[in-house]
Amino acid sequence: MKDLFSVKDKTVLVTGSSRGIGYSIARGFAAAGSVVLINGTSGESVKKAVKQLLSEGLRVHGIAFDVTNPAEVEKNIEKIENSVGPVDVLVNNAGIHRRAPLEDMTMEEWNKVVEADLTSVFIVSKAVAKYMITRRAGRIINITSLNAEAARPTIANYCAAKGGLKMLTKSMATEWGKYNILTNAIGPGYILTDLTKPLSDDPSFDAWVKSEVPLQRWGQPEDLAGAAIFLASEASKYINGHTIYVDGGWQACL
Ligand SMILES: NC(=O)c1ccc[n+]([C@@H]2O[C@H](COP(=O)([O-])OP(=O)(O)OC[C@H]3O[C@@H](n4cnc5c(N)ncnc54)[C@H](O)[C@@H]3O)[C@@H](O)[C@H]2O)c1
Repeated sequence: MKDLFSVKDKTVLVTGSSRGIGYSIARGFAAAGSVVLINGTSGESVKKAVKQLLSEGLRVHGIAFDVTNPAEVEKNIEKIENSVGPVDVLVNNAGIHRRAPLEDMTMEEWNKVVEADLTSVFIVSKAVAKYMITRRAGRIINITSLNAEAARPTIANYCAAKGGLKMLTKSMATEWGKYNILTNAIGPGYILTDLTKPLSDDPSFDAWVKSEVPLQRWGQPEDLAGAAIFLASEASKYINGHTIYVDGGWQACL
């Protein structure tokens, strides 16, 4: 029973982990004894994150690639499998925003967000699942959003992508369960990161968040690590296709 929540010695790939929520999830796994792969598009920011985590005595490697590029993904997943070890846990965290009123949203703004927040999960998961299927073992955790359930103005592209990701999570759970690959999602509420800086810098939005969320504060990136570790551990071995909302209780109230 003492090892029920253990992720010790697991190899964990967290996409988009050079900063923000991905970085905190990566740090949480590494502090719990996993070997963690730090990813992002910029080699420099990946290097910086790896340097920081190594200085804390954690076992991490850096691997920069663009999760929206299928050829780059295939090549780098193969590299990880051959040089670091079999990927036991994949956390699909990378994501972006391009905000605009729906009637002014350009095709580029629409496509970029759907590509980065939804299609990338299909690309990376397929590349990793190829190996997990052979091993008949794996955990996949998709980072969706409160916006998979409720919309806000100026982010129709993001809401559609995250809503789609909620259903892709269920599809992966449905089709890959027979291979002992468990797929679940985490839906963060409003978390303080670079992505939400334009919102937290706006005093009226900041006040709105604090008044709406029952815990009366923004989430911190560190608030997400526990749920991710749970979904990667033995403790969750019969949970498949579910979303855990880490939102301070936002969805519980009107
Ligand atoms: N911050 C929030 O309030 C919040 C709420 C709900 C969901 N989320 C989701 O959590 C995830 C992380 O958000 P965050 O706030 O930490 O964002 P962030 O902007 O701070 O970090 C995003 C990370 O993703 C990486 N990334 C972006 N595009 C990439 C690509 N094509 N290939 C590889 N890496 C890429 C960036 O380099 C960075 O490391 C996103 O999926 C986001 O939608 C965030």
